[in-house]
Amino acid sequence: MKRILLIVGGGIAAYKSAELIRLLRKRGHAVRCVLTEGGSHFVTPMTLAALSEDKVYTTLWDLTDEAEMGHIQLSRQADLIVVCPVTADLMARMAAGVADDLATTLLLATDTPVLAAPAMNVRMWTHAATVRNVAQLRGDGITVLEPDEGAMACGEYGPGRLPEPVAIAEAIDRALGVSDRLAGRHVLVTAGPTHEPIDPVRYLANRSSGKQGFAIAGALAALGARVTLVAGPVMLPTPAGVDRVDVETAREMAGAVEAALPADVAVMVAAVADWHVAVAVQKVKKGAMPPVLTLAENPDILATLASAANRPPLVIGFAAETERVIEHAAAKRLRKKADWIVANDVSGDVMGGDANTVHIVREGGVESWERLPKATVATRLADAIADALET
Ligand code: C5P
Repeated sequence: MKRILLIVGGGIAAYKSAELIRLLRKRGHAVRCVLTEGGSHFVTPMTLAALSEDKVYTTLWDLTDEAEMGHIQLSRQADLIVVCPVTADLMARMAAGVADDLATTLLLATDTPVLAAPAMNVRMWTHAATVRNVAQLRGDGITVLEPDEGAMACGEYGPGRLPEPVAIAEAIDRALGVSDRLAGRHVLVTAGPTHEPIDPVRYLANRSSGKQGFAIAGALAALGARVTLVAGPVMLPTPAGVDRVDVETAREMAGAVEAALPADVAVMVAAVADWHVAVAVQKVKKGAMPPVLTLAENPDILATLASAANRPPLVIGFAAETERVIEHAAAKRLRKKADWIVANDVSGDVMGGDANTVHIVREGGVESWERLPKATVATRLADAIADALET
């Protein structure tokens, strides 16, 4: 059992801290809460006390507690301090070393590791002052999680949403060094598109943001796996604890996958281009006649891996489908000799977005996960993989 001191900051996302407490308790941790003045406008001490089964601390000037325990004790008794949600204002005060309430005072008076989960309006998150404060806090050794991207309570869209509670719980376990369900396992993940050059300035590609694959790599690392992420060209930060190999073309991706073996699990999320341009040419000049491209087939990385002599014991493929999703995915599973196919219904707004509906097609049947954030799909899949390896 680990002891977590949870500081609940102000903001509409504060209600999600209730779910976080529930998840942390389920994982066997003890949670003690500090509610800021701002936070108390969104959740009540009663809610937090009931869920944590402990007293909730709200003020620096509570003489009884100062005498009995004091704010320094409060933070020193914890294995980890979690600030969830952390607002732009609270981050600014933390970055500046301000100590003008119970939360900031005990954050200043401790050397216990701190993890903060931000939630705020997208403009606040991308404001130069917040960017500076986040960099300062990270430089000070505080783990500031990346917020999720999506529709916000204020009606805007972008990064700034609180990460899903299950993803925060995973990050907490990782910070505590207690998530080891996949310790000692090597997992290989491919993600993103591939780019197949037509000439030095143009390329063929599939539509893929790489978000789902990167989230899966991060979720697997959070369970203690050694993760090799073979990434096509995408502009995404490398998830914590993941070894990343950047590639451009399908043939490079195939080579990087082979070089990363042996692995216990392979999760092939990349949207690999099916063809490359057969003849590499100099830059094609605009002329009267449009050029004719001669294409040649790319290697099927998933099918090759699933039939290889050193095949990972669990091979998982993805399938983006627009109709008869499960039927097509089941056929693909047999054709490519994958153990599982995660079928994506891409008839909606999945591409580049944050939500995903997937169907896990296995030998025994199908399990459907409807409209979940990609981060949640990732943590659920990582859990399912851990379950499969344990049986
Ligand atoms: O055949 P399709 O492209 O729909 O199959 C998708 C699955 O196969 C994904 O897991 C993808 O990563 C993998 N794939 C691959 N190499 C290719 C094409 C697809 O690994 N050349």
